[in-house]
Amino acid sequence: MARTASAIRRSVVEAPTGFAAKPRKTRRSLLALVFLASTRLSPWLRERLWRSIYDRLAAHDPLAEQFLAMNYGYADVREDTTRAPALEPRDEPFRYELQLYRHVTDGIELAGKDVLEVGCGRGGGASYVARYFHPNHILAVDLAAQAVASCQALHRLPNLTFQRASAASLPCASASIDVVINVESSHCYADIEDFIAEVRRVLRPGGYLAFCDLRWPRVAAELRQQFDRAGFVERRHRIITENVLAALDRLAERRQGICHAVPRWLRPAMGDFIGVRDTAVYDMLRAGRLAYVSLLLQKPQLVARAERPRSNLSFGEGLAIR
Ligand SMILES: C[S@@+](CC[C@H](N)C(=O)[O-])C[C@H]1O[C@@H](n2cnc3c(N)ncnc32)[C@H](O)[C@@H]1O
Repeated sequence: MARTASAIRRSVVEAPTGFAAKPRKTRRSLLALVFLASTRLSPWLRERLWRSIYDRLAAHDPLAEQFLAMNYGYADVREDTTRAPALEPRDEPFRYELQLYRHVTDGIELAGKDVLEVGCGRGGGASYVARYFHPNHILAVDLAAQAVASCQALHRLPNLTFQRASAASLPCASASIDVVINVESSHCYADIEDFIAEVRRVLRPGGYLAFCDLRWPRVAAELRQQFDRAGFVERRHRIITENVLAALDRLAERRQGICHAVPRWLRPAMGDFIGVRDTAVYDMLRAGRLAYVSLLLQKPQLVARAERPRSNLSFGEGLAIR
């Protein structure tokens, strides 16, 4: 990760094939440095740092309504409008952020299911899933107490509950959840393997983890191996950087507006944080130095041991996994 901080210190970012080829100046901000160097911090410090950032952000009320979903968004780069979901007028401002939830859960049956979202932020994504896909129930958790308090005030739905909890200690019984959703949150975690173990514990056999987040390309490859070692079956793997950049381009004007709602000294940091065009994180994505990874992973089904006698994973007498 030595190149993490040095890359951000560089003043020019080259564009890879497929993206705009013009080099441009990359502005630095304290928050970008924190983000880009955070993988070098001690896990303890990293988790506390991110919690403090998200708590402070949630406490900043003027942004609450504009920031119901806090991810970088997803846009169909082929402009295939037939795939664009119909949204209620109140959800239109968050179209691209909600499309990331739609993308990540694409192909999974959510109706009637028990869903857990880990790292729900302001709860806009959980509310979207609860209203449009009709799960039996969604428990949405976040480490930031202020964010959870905002969620409880902003979204009141019969099938949606918010709770403060860490990704490393999920407040669910073992094998009680059908689908875990994790959108742009895992880069903050002290130990990704604790999270993976917890997801595996709470999922029912055959249950899914719908995951997406930013990663250094090398770390993205390691991440897939970590899921594999934990026994997950990879059902989908996509690098969606292009779709995320397309969303950030379409969101540029609104996100500039959010930047102007914070004090002047905070604007460069906020710009990086929310992915405003031509700021550091945006440029790292465009240059291919950061990748946006999307994964759909499945916890194997239980099968009778007689069907697969050599499995080394066991759930009790006579049962194994596939
Ligand atoms: C970029 S926001 C994304 C929020 C939401 N998923 C969305 O797309 O709008 C990341 C969220 O992850 C939460 N988070 C960070 N570390 C966490 C942890 N260890 N356990 C649970 N949530 C965490 C943060 O508080 C923050 O709300």
